[in-house]
Amino acid sequence: MTECTANCNAGPPRQLRGTDHNLLNAGMETTIKISQSPFDLARDLAADIAEMINRSASGKRPFTFVLSGGSTPKMLFNVLADNYSDSIPWSIVHFFWGDERCVPPGDPESNYGMTERFLLSRIPVPGVNIHRIRGEDDPLNEAKRYSSEILLNTLSINNVPVFDLVILGIGEDGHTASIFPGNKELLVTDKIMDLAIHPVTLQKRLSLSAPVINNASNIVFLVSGTGKAGVVADVIENKEIVDYPASFIQPSHGHLRWYLDSDSASLLGQWA
Ligand code: 6PG
Repeated sequence: MTECTANCNAGPPRQLRGTDHNLLNAGMETTIKISQSPFDLARDLAADIAEMINRSASGKRPFTFVLSGGSTPKMLFNVLADNYSDSIPWSIVHFFWGDERCVPPGDPESNYGMTERFLLSRIPVPGVNIHRIRGEDDPLNEAKRYSSEILLNTLSINNVPVFDLVILGIGEDGHTASIFPGNKELLVTDKIMDLAIHPVTLQKRLSLSAPVINNASNIVFLVSGTGKAGVVADVIENKEIVDYPASFIQPSHGHLRWYLDSDSASLLGQWA
């Protein structure tokens, strides 16, 4: 795995060379970690997650962990369940979701349902630590209820939750969580969670807002495959040209880490 971390306040960026990518995201520390294969990517992120949770455990603090949906996290969940079921103190981990489709948990579209199959049913996490978005309920009522559940179970600053770790995916249209190009209000709202509509399927979804995501201590984009290489390069290197929702994920005080495989990183550094 290659890794670079740039404190982006440190002077003008060096030219991109080889695998050392400096970034132009002012005011925050950003790390790009590039693993060879999708499995290596899942393995490398799982190891870093284990380290973060164990650090919380040694500080006798709960760990608030926001999961993403879609298909990319499945390999990560498998690695965590296969290799860390006994070595991570799951009893301190509180699971939340960054977004959910407005469907019942048994629906194949459910992010919770996928997580239950690939991870939650295979690790010893207490049921009270699993904070499911009730996709089967009225979306606007659930957005309010879930926002209250979050505030009851996380630290917050000025009533904005501070999650320990938020994992995000990215779509080829530059969406993240369920903040789609047409849902720009989710980039600036003071709500914790709100309704979103998938632009193609018109599926109703619930999504954390960007300000809540940005308030996290650690934000991770987990991205795999050549199909995402263009949007990854645009968000990381052409931020001023594109205004994808993912471009607005800029931690207010925490750390942003991109976990990529060689395919999703393949267009990085093209302007060097
Ligand atoms: C969802 C996700 C969404 C996802 C991206 C990438 O509910 O679908 O939260 O933001 O992370 O669309 O999805 P893939 O991992 O399936 O490419």
